Amino acid sequence: MFFQYLSKGYVASCSFTVEIIMNLKILLVGGGGREHALAWKIAQSPWVEKLYCAPGNPGIAGIAECVDIAAGDLEALEVFAVEKKIDLTVIGPEAPLVAGLADRLRAAGQAVFGPSASAAAIEGSKAFMKDLLQRHHIPTAGYQVFSQPKAALAYIRKQKIPIVVKASGLASGKGAMVCHSLKEAEEAVHRAMIAREFGAAGQEVVVEEFLTGEEVSFMAFADGERLLPLASAQDHKAIGEGDTGPNTGGMGAYSPAPIVTPGLHERIMSEIMEPVMRAMTMEGRPYRGLLYAGLMIDGDLLKVLEFNARFGDPETQPLLMRMRSDIVPHLLASASGTLAGMTIDWDPRPAVCVVMAAGGYPGSYAGNLPITGLQSVPPHGDVQVFHAGTRFDGGQVVTAGGRVLGVTGMGETITRARDVTYDVVHRIHWQDVYFRRDIAHRAIAREVS
Ligand code: AMP
Ligand code: GLY
Repeated sequence: MFFQYLSKGYVASCSFTVEIIMNLKILLVGGGGREHALAWKIAQSPWVEKLYCAPGNPGIAGIAECVDIAAGDLEALEVFAVEKKIDLTVIGPEAPLVAGLADRLRAAGQAVFGPSASAAAIEGSKAFMKDLLQRHHIPTAGYQVFSQPKAALAYIRKQKIPIVVKASGLASGKGAMVCHSLKEAEEAVHRAMIAREFGAAGQEVVVEEFLTGEEVSFMAFADGERLLPLASAQDHKAIGEGDTGPNTGGMGAYSPAPIVTPGLHERIMSEIMEPVMRAMTMEGRPYRGLLYAGLMIDGDLLKVLEFNARFGDPETQPLLMRMRSDIVPHLLASASGTLAGMTIDWDPRPAVCVVMAAGGYPGSYAGNLPITGLQSVPPHGDVQVFHAGTRFDGGQVVTAGGRVLGVTGMGETITRARDVTYDVVHRIHWQDVYFRRDIAHRAIAREVS
């Protein structure tokens, strides 16, 4: 694989190869739980000499050099990558992808893990994504796109309830509103299009048929042509136990998702992932990076809920705990179009991530609350505490976001993985800390039944 990557012009001579490749300088962009998990995994690679993270967080600071550049500061990131002669930039969050960071870096001659802005539109515009699926006959919920609230409301009044109203643009996972009454749907249109609760993301809304079933997160490395799927995962988007209440960026996740049998895996690849890759290429938006499909499974029915242009968060935390293979070759191969023939070795044991959030999230919440108990977490190869919304205040780690930590643990069974994870969760505290106590309930019900 390295030779394939290298033969793309990285270095010409094989004797030179090992030396160069073993001294990779990687820049990771972002500072959430997903990036901490990526940093943790990348830092284990023998190919990496130096890992920078912009801006990083206190958890990442223990394993990478954090650089004080915001993930949205495209210009400063480009200058940094060029000046430091970065060998590969890995872009974690969606916003810089949609804003064109990958294009900018590639134009400056840099290798990048992440799609171009035109390919990241698969996440950045739900209207584009739905129209793409419709044009290429890829199964998804029935829908209409609106740019005027009056037209959206008139349409909704003729539809069945429940119905789903989604801000078309980026809204940190909070822009999809499942409405169980006409009044709720009217309010959702008001929140997105008139009150502009999600900013410019609400300029257009997608109004969508409500689907029932079980959700799955399906991710694959993509190199512009080929896909290499990751293990399956499921997340819990709703804030409340029993998957109730408003949607969040994700309150917990686990891998594997027992619902994804080998047969379903094949169907997801052949009915959804591969057709989407072909569709993107046909439309002049070849996809490179990480392609994430949010799917609804209902018996034999398989439909797309969403696409993301990056690793899922928190799903990446349990997934990377389970990934035995070095991730760096896969990141390089996705960036350089050389995924052919690659495989991934997975730890068969399940992993569970419980997100610890600030009280009030996904609504308003306090910050700067001192976090206690981080030191009491036993050094444990099977449990990691990934930082998401934290920062240093002097020597103290304090809260600095809605989703604060992702505690992720592995075990022989999903029940065991859940138990070792919650054991650590219970040692960590701050004022008004909130976490769901039922993460992985579906997988556990399947295990015990
Ligand atoms: P999205 O950002 O489009 O993935 O939506 C966020 C969450 O809202 C999903 O993970 C589902 O839990 C829920 N959701 C979105 N679309 C639908 C739908 N058409 N039917 C039922 N639930 C949905
Ligand atoms: N956990 C869902 C997402 O990353 O969008």
